[in-house]
Amino acid sequence: MTVKIAILSGDGIGPEIVAEAIKVIGCLRKHYGFQVELEEAQIGGAAVDTSGEPLPEATLRLARQADAILLGAVGGPKWETLERRRRPEQGLLAIRSALGLFGNLRPAILYAELAGASTLRPEIVADLDILIVRELTGGIYFGEPRGVRTSGTGEREAYNTLLYRESEIVRIARLAFEIAGKRDARLCSVDKANVLESSGLWREVVTQLSGEYPQVELSHLYVDNAAMQLVRAPKQFDVIVTGNLFGDILSDCAAMLTGSIGMLPSAALDERGKGMYEPVHGSAPDIAGRDVANPLATILSLAMMLRYSLNQAVLAERVESAVRCVLAEGYRTADIHTAGTRRVGTREMGEAVTAALRAVAS
Ligand code: NAD
Ligand code: IPM
Ligand code: MN
Repeated sequence: MTVKIAILSGDGIGPEIVAEAIKVIGCLRKHYGFQVELEEAQIGGAAVDTSGEPLPEATLRLARQADAILLGAVGGPKWETLERRRRPEQGLLAIRSALGLFGNLRPAILYAELAGASTLRPEIVADLDILIVRELTGGIYFGEPRGVRTSGTGEREAYNTLLYRESEIVRIARLAFEIAGKRDARLCSVDKANVLESSGLWREVVTQLSGEYPQVELSHLYVDNAAMQLVRAPKQFDVIVTGNLFGDILSDCAAMLTGSIGMLPSAALDERGKGMYEPVHGSAPDIAGRDVANPLATILSLAMMLRYSLNQAVLAERVESAVRCVLAEGYRTADIHTAGTRRVGTREMGEAVTAALRAVAS
């Protein structure tokens, strides 16, 4: 059976890093008999430039039809002054919401070869393997009402609403308990229950649900402490479950534990396991178009796609071991360059992964 992958490259380094993941897909097709069809569509600033909308109807249609979606990144200074609903980021939020991609898995794994690249001491991060489960279609990102208005005193004020429904909390917590049960069975729920009503409900609902998962050890942390603990002693965590905004911030923080944000993949899943896969990082306008971006987060996102949406766990492992292999051979993009290693650009890194994958096939 041929699977269909929608390719949404987006802006900035998006097209450069996605091009390398496409090379990997080409290699899987040629050397591993992976039957796949790719179809590209526009999202973000690129879509705004051609159609005026960050998520054109045709892109959403393709995303709905496809078996899985690979996304690069969106956004950049060119579009920052547009009215908010036309900005590239709104396209990303809209596709997540329209497809019901509530479950965002953001693993932070330290590859042994990169122990020296982390800003933390090697013994603090050695063998790190944690997973942040971020709620992706609710919370303050989507709560209504929101807006900017003039107050009674004539001053401008802006407001957002942080709202979580019980059903949304149950859904993300259940996903996190299920996944934790297949890992080290330790789940830490992160909230701000000492201050926020929405977090109070979050904690209550997660605690109640834990009754159904007696084998998973549940703990709770306030988000400020969690941020500190992540850099103090990250290995105390196995799975972290948290809301949309806290998860966004904590996952960039976790990224740095692994050496570079250019290493962190992610999956955004709906209730049936269909998903959109994208690196955790953004469009990196500061390095776009220079063949220096790290494509590994995107290639590792492809591996997550193979595992979670396409039922190809063996191919996923092959891709991940090819990445491990090029790191062991010393290939490093500028973001993770360490002494005594081989500095390469985006394309060369992608080609090295493809070559490693091909070598194992034959
Ligand atoms: P960013 O993640 O794009 O960049 C942060 C820093 O990390 C930059 O110095 C960048 O050069 C570096 N970096 C990021 N990815 C890298 C890679 N693959 N290889 C090497 N270095 C890398 O975050 P930002 O600068 O805050 O945001 C830039 C734009 O991206 C904004 O418009 C923002 O809204 C957007 N954004 C998009 C997504 C997404 O599409 N999922 C995620 C985050 C930010
Ligand atoms: C991410 C990004 C997005 C988010 C932005 C670009 C909308 O930062 O995927 O982490 O905040 O979710
Ligand atoms: Mn982010």
